[in-house]
Amino acid sequence: MTSDRPRASGPAEAAGCRIVKLGGSLITTTDPDGSPHVNEQRVAALAQEIAATGLPTILVHGTGAFGKPAARRHNYLDGVITAGRQKVFAEVSALLARLELAVLEALQRGGLCAVRVPLSGLCAYTDGKIRLRSVDGVRLLLNHGIVPVLGGNLAWGRDGFAVHSSDTLAADLAIALHATALIMATNAGGVHLHHGASDRIHRELDADDPVLSGSIPPDRQDVSGGMRAKVRECGRVARTGIPTFIIDGRLPGNLAASLRGATPSGTRIRAGGPQDTDSPSPDRPTSTTPEAPPEEALRFPREQG
Ligand SMILES: Nc1ncnc2c1ncn2[C@@H]1O[C@H](COP(=O)(O)OP(=O)(O)O)[C@@H](O)[C@H]1O
Ligand SMILES: [Mg+2]
Repeated sequence: MTSDRPRASGPAEAAGCRIVKLGGSLITTTDPDGSPHVNEQRVAALAQEIAATGLPTILVHGTGAFGKPAARRHNYLDGVITAGRQKVFAEVSALLARLELAVLEALQRGGLCAVRVPLSGLCAYTDGKIRLRSVDGVRLLLNHGIVPVLGGNLAWGRDGFAVHSSDTLAADLAIALHATALIMATNAGGVHLHHGASDRIHRELDADDPVLSGSIPPDRQDVSGGMRAKVRECGRVARTGIPTFIIDGRLPGNLAASLRGATPSGTRIRAGGPQDTDSPSPDRPTSTTPEAPPEEALRFPREQG
């Protein structure tokens, strides 16, 4: 589901905050009987990494095993549950409520002062688009030293109910709050050079390069569009000048290092235009090839925060 670009509003106290998105595929699994499960240990470990940095952070998470099968089962892979199908909306919202509580409790166990921000007051579904209306409430929580937690869910309006992808939500928040960085943690090393053939990753990828972004296969069984849509949403953020990364969330320590400004394993997403001067090697091409030394961390400025 598309989203209108949110307007930045109010004072900029939230500048310096990082937006972390934990992928649904990273934090959920499916039990042998088919029921969805939150990987609470992993969520708590990632929370510990965030807490250890002490940096102001907003957390967004995906729905993974809780969201994807429901979209297939109820046939809304296009992201829209039409008006009149309110029972589907009700069923999915109950499913996601279970996910949300389990995630929140695991984050708190990991040492974060985390508080859930419901999407209901935050966004509206009108004219086929989801709009983030105001981020003032999120900013306020952050200023109280709280980690606001948001997740992908369903928005509603006169026409029915629409999936608000957590990738889109994270991107909208990063732009609206002028975040210091957007870090999307997922269950891959980064963006693979040749997905399915090898695990080698792009160290940098230009989301505006149609050849590069087009080489990522579309995932038609994923209502949020999978890796291809993730790169597109990251490109939207990178275009505003915000350092943007897709990182390996499975690798212990990778998130903490990324929050501090140096990503050991992941892909920096760029979007056309001039490159900043803080990249590890100024003469490196926008799309980095496998020659990039894997041990070299991707960096962004760390003065804020
Ligand atoms: N080029 C690619 N690089 C990495 N992963 C890819 C690529 N193309 C498709 N994928 C798939 O996309 C998945 C990550 O997308 P997704 O499941 O939507 O993650 P998330 O839950 O973090 O949003 C990977 O686990 C992988 O299976
Ligand atoms: Mg996804």
